[in-house]
Amino acid sequence: MERPFPTVAVVGLGTMGAGVAVAVAKSGRRVLGIEADADAAARALARIEEATAHAVQRERLTAEERTALLALITVGDRLDVAAGADLVIEELPEQLELKREVFAELDRICPPETVLATGTTALSVTRIAAATARPERVLGLHFFNPVHTMKLVEVVRTVLTSPQAAEDAAAFARDLGKEPVAAGDRAGFIVNGLLFAYLNQAAAMFESRYATREDIDAAMRLGCGLPMGPLALLDLIGIDTARTVLEAMYEQSKDRLHAPAPILGQLASAGLLGRKSGRGFYTYEAPGSSKAVAEAAAAAGTRVAGRTVTSIGVCGSGTMATGIVEVFAKAGLPVLLAARSQEKADRAKAQLAKSLERSVSRGRLAAEARDAALALVTPTGSYADLAGVDLVVEAVAEDLEVKRELFAALDKVVKPGAVLATTTSSLPVISCATATSRPQDVIGMHFFNPAPAMKLVEVVSTVLTAPDVTATVLELCAEVKKHAVECGDRAGFIVNALLFPYLNDAVRMLQEHYATVDDIDTAMKLGCGYPMGPFELLDVVGLDVSLTIEQVLHQEFREPGLAAAPLLEHLVAAGCLGRKTGRGFRDHARR
Ligand SMILES: NC(=O)c1ccc[n+]([C@@H]2O[C@H](COP(=O)([O-])OP(=O)(O)OC[C@H]3O[C@@H](n4cnc5c(N)ncnc54)[C@H](O)[C@@H]3O)[C@@H](O)[C@H]2O)c1
Repeated sequence: MERPFPTVAVVGLGTMGAGVAVAVAKSGRRVLGIEADADAAARALARIEEATAHAVQRERLTAEERTALLALITVGDRLDVAAGADLVIEELPEQLELKREVFAELDRICPPETVLATGTTALSVTRIAAATARPERVLGLHFFNPVHTMKLVEVVRTVLTSPQAAEDAAAFARDLGKEPVAAGDRAGFIVNGLLFAYLNQAAAMFESRYATREDIDAAMRLGCGLPMGPLALLDLIGIDTARTVLEAMYEQSKDRLHAPAPILGQLASAGLLGRKSGRGFYTYEAPGSSKAVAEAAAAAGTRVAGRTVTSIGVCGSGTMATGIVEVFAKAGLPVLLAARSQEKADRAKAQLAKSLERSVSRGRLAAEARDAALALVTPTGSYADLAGVDLVVEAVAEDLEVKRELFAALDKVVKPGAVLATTTSSLPVISCATATSRPQDVIGMHFFNPAPAMKLVEVVSTVLTAPDVTATVLELCAEVKKHAVECGDRAGFIVNALLFPYLNDAVRMLQEHYATVDDIDTAMKLGCGYPMGPFELLDVVGLDVSLTIEQVLHQEFREPGLAAAPLLEHLVAAGCLGRKTGRGFRDHARR
């Protein structure tokens, strides 16, 4: 096939336009750069020269390649040179009227077969196309910043875009070494549509003082493996830009979860736009700096001391219980592993031995450390043996009645002053607490799976938890090298309350035939640097588990946008639960 679009005009050579111009020239195509006036053109050319010189320094480009590349780029201030282009990519400031005017002009200037693409993030491609007499040759080409490192391009089709134009645009993107995904014309397209709703919830969570900005960010980095926390990311994107995108999303969806959190408006009005202005959710060393400065801790020095913990009990014999036992034993703490029978407890210890063995064979653990850890673990089939421990972590079945019964039993046997913790993901900690006569000693310690590898623990205090109990658990987490974040006792805590609505939005996108499973997964991995796409993650977590968490969240907040997507319910009803059953959103060939 002939290479699509040998000559490309780029209109607007700012952050995005300059990056796109370089990427296109790098593919050997001629680039006609167009700026607003002669001064802006000179500045744009300087920017392109500087960026490519930097690429040479970084050895991303040789000096010869740079020379050849620059020879392919011309920069001027006359729009009518676009007449010589096969494709025009518009990268103007995000203003609808400006874009529509330029498209109307381009429509007059360019031959009828020229394809016109807009780089808009949040404006309607359809409305931009309507300014021309060739809407079938107008589409969106949404590159990501910085263009030279981000491989993703969303190719946005309106209802009028011809399939041929969209295919050519996708082939063009591939030819630039990018990965195109197909999206329809909806505010935010795939990536921002999923990302910004989540960022908005994180801002709202901070605003309600449910957790600190550091804890929200750490929870999402460590709990989900995301490259950045949501509030730090909002600062990077720009609070004003985030608001604009959310406003556009809300305008179309009327989903309250897209209505910009009030805090975003307050920060924007105060000129606290994020990194670029030196302050947003965080304060930075200087405008444009990426280095956040520590702020004077509020009310320092009043922190209470924790209780002494020298021995631990863990209830349960499943994956989480075994993993939690491993965490404590490896840190040198004696652990009583209490299960419903001696046999179950022995089997759990054997499971633990296997896991430690794997670490040894992978060179991550010394044989002596394995032996020392195993020697610290005593399996027992009787909860009465927990009488003398200082702290109990419960990791039995995720069923409130089962947990309440266990807490009532622990209340009878465990010595006064011991801390009683639950590792529930979705049940109210307070309901465990009220099954005892000492709710002040009960707290949530939400570990992540696999517990030995995942650094995060959500420390969940109820309205009755004593401050020294919270302090005890925070100190213990530090001792066993886990990163603790503090939050209150409401559905989803930090991580699941931010993660599952995003996963649900992805399912809804699929259900509405807006984009495919593969395109959505690719878009989130390449566009946001996520370790897994939403459907990959749902298949790993289990569709039934995900549905339960979404139902709990919806029940707690009664937000219509949090209602579980019917497609998820249908798949669960059909027994498609993800990897564990061999089929979920994808077919997983059984090995
Ligand atoms: N910055 C990002 O992270 C990002 C990411 C993806 C998409 N986008 C989208 O890309 C587009 C461009 O954004 P940007 O961040 O590069 O903006 P920018 O402000 O950096 O660049 C816009 C450029 O357009 C020029 N310009 C203004 N009026 C002009 C005219 N009449 N004719 C020719 N040039 C003109 C300006 O001089 C400026 O150089 C926007 O639609 C934006 O939403 C931005």
